[in-house]
Amino acid sequence: MSTAISPTAYNYKVVRQFAIMTVVWGILGMGLGVFIASQLVWPQLNLDLPWTSFGRLRPLHTNLVIFAFGGCALFATSYYVVQRTCQTRLISDSLAAFTFWGWQAVIVSALITLPMGYTTTKEYAELEWPIAILLAIVWVTYAVVFFGTIVKRKTKHIYVGNWFYGAFILVTAMLHIVNHISLPVSFFKSYSAYAGATDAMIQWWYGHNAVGFFLTTGFLGMMYYFVPKQAERPIYSYRLSIVHFWALITLYIWAGPHHLHYTALPDWAQSLGMVMSIILLAPSWGGMINGMMTLSGAWHKLRTDPILRFLVVSLAFYGMSTFEGPMMAIKTVNSLSHYTDWTIGHVHAGALGWVAMISIGAVYHMIPKLYGRAQMHSIGLINAHFWLATIGTVLYIASMWVNGITQGLMWRAINDDGTLTYSFVEALQASHPGYIVRALGGAFFASGMLLMAWNVLRTVRASKPAEAAAAEQIVVVGAH
Ligand code: HEM
Ligand code: HEM
Repeated sequence: MSTAISPTAYNYKVVRQFAIMTVVWGILGMGLGVFIASQLVWPQLNLDLPWTSFGRLRPLHTNLVIFAFGGCALFATSYYVVQRTCQTRLISDSLAAFTFWGWQAVIVSALITLPMGYTTTKEYAELEWPIAILLAIVWVTYAVVFFGTIVKRKTKHIYVGNWFYGAFILVTAMLHIVNHISLPVSFFKSYSAYAGATDAMIQWWYGHNAVGFFLTTGFLGMMYYFVPKQAERPIYSYRLSIVHFWALITLYIWAGPHHLHYTALPDWAQSLGMVMSIILLAPSWGGMINGMMTLSGAWHKLRTDPILRFLVVSLAFYGMSTFEGPMMAIKTVNSLSHYTDWTIGHVHAGALGWVAMISIGAVYHMIPKLYGRAQMHSIGLINAHFWLATIGTVLYIASMWVNGITQGLMWRAINDDGTLTYSFVEALQASHPGYIVRALGGAFFASGMLLMAWNVLRTVRASKPAEAAAAEQIVVVGAH
């Protein structure tokens, strides 16, 4: 086998842009998370202004962390992975640049319109129709760049990570477009095309699959590339990864009704959603095991490599949240957990433990390679970041479990004469200590992101243009 330097080069510019913005939006989105968590401890922080109230900042938090932070991480890694595994440059530099600037425009529009109170009121789909249309155009362009690059690949087969990225891109387009069909009545007001229980069903078909395809399938694409790369081991089982892929995408799409237990949705649909959610445990754990077992023979690397630690701990949280989710989908469990902080804890076990940790690990892996450096400026700082993130996540989810179960039990407690034992305010008072611990955990996590920003800045500053350009060369393994 010989190694040759190809005359063409990867498009790393767009990957660098998205990678840097992952860190920037991560700090803003999580910083805002800490702020709204603090509002739940000290309501005075609502500042008596409409645009700084919890109700308006909460959707801004979810948009910034999911679409800005998570979205940029997915764009950056998918563009990096698809080029490297297909050994070819992105199909079009200008379309790729359009996806970067278009995506940032969507986020900035969210940053302006959500605090002003413009919203469709559909969770995770709040952006009003002009922004939603821009998002759809950017997303379709993303699909063209990604699949176009796959078509002109120099390799024979399509690496499994790209299958996951591809499914995430296609299904997200479908969900976004179908859920957003609406009738605009003015520039910033529209009404959903669906009504009543149908609207709720479409919304949670979207909402759940936003979790399944945006927050899970895309990040599994990341897992299939960065875990083997960082561990310097091949993926544990290629066969399992194929079974994992088909089982996951076939099952996820049916589980949405578990968000609508005990509602006007037909009972059979609720039960179907519950059953599909329980079965979903199998492919989820299959994928987690495939990632974990990739470390066979490389576990010792965890002692010295904090980037690998981020990736492995993210898989542990993925396993935990995909065990918890199916349990919460059981109707009797959901009758306790629904509306309580337990859901919030589950969300952040997935969001902080899985989504954020794997993204952080992937960005630490990519940055030196994108800028032609041997490694990040400081491994010690990555280690400090790892511990801040892990302790922060544990504080967050443990406090929300305690709060959630306390709230569920207090709300349902009744006296012999059938009256409620506790008032709502008593349950709120009991939750106050948990809110303090959650805000503290969030502050731990967010401060780790500041260390990351410094470390990334120093690594980028140390890079010379010639080193960065050399890093872009396509190294073709095997003679052409
Ligand atoms: C420093 C880190 C973070 C803090 C302190 C934080 C805090 C919060 C708070 C206080 C809420 C509102 C909870 C409520 O309404 O009772 C919330 C909601 C939410 N956050 Fe975060 N968050 C953080 C990071 C993230 C990340 C990284 C993601 C996603 C990748 C995320 C996704 C969400 C989602 C999806 C919700 C809505 C949950 C629901 O409606 O059930 N958060 N967050
Ligand atoms: C097998 C996998 C999973 C299943 C079956 C599952 C199931 C559930 C259930 C039953 C709920 C509570 C619904 C309610 O009472 O309103 C829920 C909420 C949620 N889960 Fe999961 N979950 C899974 C994995 C994940 C992962 C990995 C993440 C994040 C990355 C995640 C993010 C969320 C979010 C954001 C919500 C809150 C939705 C909302 O009400 O706003 N889930 N999930």
